[in-house]
Amino acid sequence: MTSPALDTFVAQAIARSRALTDPADCVLALAPLMLDLIAQAGSFLEPQHYKSDPDHYARNLVYSAPDDSLSLYTLVWLPGQWTPVHDHGSWGVVGVLEGVLEERSYVRLSPDRGADSGIELVRGGVILLGHGAVTSFVPNPDHIHITGVPAERPRAVSLHLYGRTMDDFHIYDVAAGTRKRVEVAHNES
Ligand SMILES: [Fe+2]
Repeated sequence: MTSPALDTFVAQAIARSRALTDPADCVLALAPLMLDLIAQAGSFLEPQHYKSDPDHYARNLVYSAPDDSLSLYTLVWLPGQWTPVHDHGSWGVVGVLEGVLEERSYVRLSPDRGADSGIELVRGGVILLGHGAVTSFVPNPDHIHITGVPAERPRAVSLHLYGRTMDDFHIYDVAAGTRKRVEVAHNES
């Protein structure tokens, strides 16, 4: 890291996330930091952080804590690219750098007792996150959603901070009522 803005953000995020053990307190404290970070993104983001992939949305690593307690990525969404229905297994704070990121929520009706089947999900609301917007989520119950950009809208770029190295998460088959854990790739910076 060579950017004071990013160095300061990471140091504060580590300190606050260590001090605040309740994930809801944690995202409350970190959301304003993300708002500031978006405003200073030009000072630390480099061309590799805007890397896209024609086949799927791209995940570009910006920072990963040596103890795996925190990770920061840029996600680059070309028109028509979406995540599967997924959760996170972590708290997270997301800020939008460019374009409009669309999030479609799912609401879990069945209690989560750790099983990977018998999961009843219904579609929830939609939120459109424009440049400068910050959103967050906490686990237990985890936030389940799809995120992406419809084909008729231009590219979006977003910053995602998570409370762990985000290299796997659950994806859901809504119709079957099942989920499975999958590994997710990223581009190193
Ligand atoms: Fe997500």
